[in-house]
Amino acid sequence: MRKTSKTKIKLNSKSKGLTKKPKNTVSPYVIFLAITFIFCFNYLRSTDIQVSLAVHPRYKQKLSRNYDINSSRVTDQAVAYQHKATMNNQQSTGLVQIKTSSQTTDLNDSQTSSKQQNKNEIIRLASPTTTMSTTKTRKTTAAVHSRVKSDKPRNMIVSIGEPVVHRKAENTIGAWMKDQTLNNNFVYVLENYVKNNKVKVYTSEANETLAHFYLLPYYWGGTGHVVMNGNLYFSKYNSNKIVKYNFEQRDVVLEKTIPGAGYANSCPYQWAGSSDVDLAADSEGLWVIYATEANEWNITIGRLDENTLEVTKTWNTRYTKRWAGNAFMAYGILYALKRYDSYSTTLNYAFDTKTNSVLRPNITMTIRNQFLTMLDYYHRERRLYAWDKGDLTTYDVKVP
Ligand SMILES: *[C@@H]1O[C@H](CO)[C@@H](O)[C@H](O)[C@H]1NC(C)=O
Ligand SMILES: *[C@@H]1O[C@H](CO)[C@@H](O)[C@H](O)[C@H]1NC(C)=O
Ligand SMILES: *[C@@H]1O[C@H](CO)[C@@H](O)[C@H](O)[C@H]1NC(C)=O
Ligand SMILES: *[C@@H]1O[C@H](CO)[C@@H](O)[C@H](O)[C@H]1NC(C)=O
Ligand SMILES: *[C@@H]1O[C@H](CO)[C@@H](O)[C@H](O)[C@H]1NC(C)=O
Repeated sequence: MRKTSKTKIKLNSKSKGLTKKPKNTVSPYVIFLAITFIFCFNYLRSTDIQVSLAVHPRYKQKLSRNYDINSSRVTDQAVAYQHKATMNNQQSTGLVQIKTSSQTTDLNDSQTSSKQQNKNEIIRLASPTTTMSTTKTRKTTAAVHSRVKSDKPRNMIVSIGEPVVHRKAENTIGAWMKDQTLNNNFVYVLENYVKNNKVKVYTSEANETLAHFYLLPYYWGGTGHVVMNGNLYFSKYNSNKIVKYNFEQRDVVLEKTIPGAGYANSCPYQWAGSSDVDLAADSEGLWVIYATEANEWNITIGRLDENTLEVTKTWNTRYTKRWAGNAFMAYGILYALKRYDSYSTTLNYAFDTKTNSVLRPNITMTIRNQFLTMLDYYHRERRLYAWDKGDLTTYDVKVP
């Protein structure tokens, strides 16, 4: 602003000067104008060329929205790309570089272009989203402050067995489970993470003949569903609402908002896919794993009352939800998976809700197809249920 007004004043005096002394006084003004012009031009240009931004939660949210707008068109490329940025956040200084350019057209999921440069991601953003562009360069260091407790709780998982594939599904992404409390062997299969409301039920893992079929009134979002006591609990697509669907009544019996929970990929797991609100169940009951802006998108564990769907108690962790490949609950302990896409990974973080303490497990786990988009503990069988690129997989779990 200051510079512009200065320029204007000079311009005025310049025109006066021109009438009186044309030869001698013109050149300093021209030089001044040229310098001002070059400065302004470079200044404007620099904001267009490369802007470094700290990975602020608000920005991360917007970033994810660009990748996965409406969630339906996530390509593997976009997902992989997103977690790469997350990895940089985790590994380096937490910087992600953004390229804003006037040439960039609307960001189409399928057309997302990316480049690797100086170990940082260059992300092209569509012009409508330039609200994110800023000339400020802020840096955050991913400090890890957690109370690590060395003595392990009694029911801590000791090891995870080799993956056992029971059958293959068409969709690379999906969820499957059994009823957490009822003593039957029914297998519930919910394929895909968006644009689906069809629940297929089989009499066992091996039997591939459809036994029951349910059409939900809403689409679900993500893969974090739970079946418990003849009810399906799922996250309603594009919302932070939890829905309770009763199989016998074939109807929704309850619907509740998880207060403050992020949705639509503001706080998903590494693979995105609307996995913001993840339900879990263990011997203690129903849980919800989510994140809020208030807790800086770090994982919040909520205890859910299965009859009212009220969150009766919460635990705020300092583990960023987006850093987790997935997470599940077992014996009141939250476990986070390091990567969803590496052959050999680990459960590298745990939070005990009984003692409010952070644990650092190092439990190795094999992901055969390196694309694990669902992981849940099933306490009646002491197994983990997983969906690995369309393979309906279980892992035996060793608990003392
Ligand atoms: C979702 O898609 C519809 C049309 O397909 C569009 O109007 C809407 O803005 C999209 N939502 C978001 C959050 O981009
Ligand atoms: C986005 O992709 C669709 C389908 O490929 C195309 O029709 C549309 O023009 C694209 N939009 C922009 C802004 O590039
Ligand atoms: C497989 O499931 C179908 C449908 O429920 C059932 O009719 C059939 O008896 C089952 N087969 C076995 C071997 O259990
Ligand atoms: C969220 O987690 C990060 C990384 O552990 C930590 O630096 C930050 O303080 C946490 N935020 C809150 C509100 O606990
Ligand atoms: C985790 O365990 C593996 C062996 O199972 C070991 O090689 C690795 O160093 C351990 N990592 C940490 C951080 O303790």
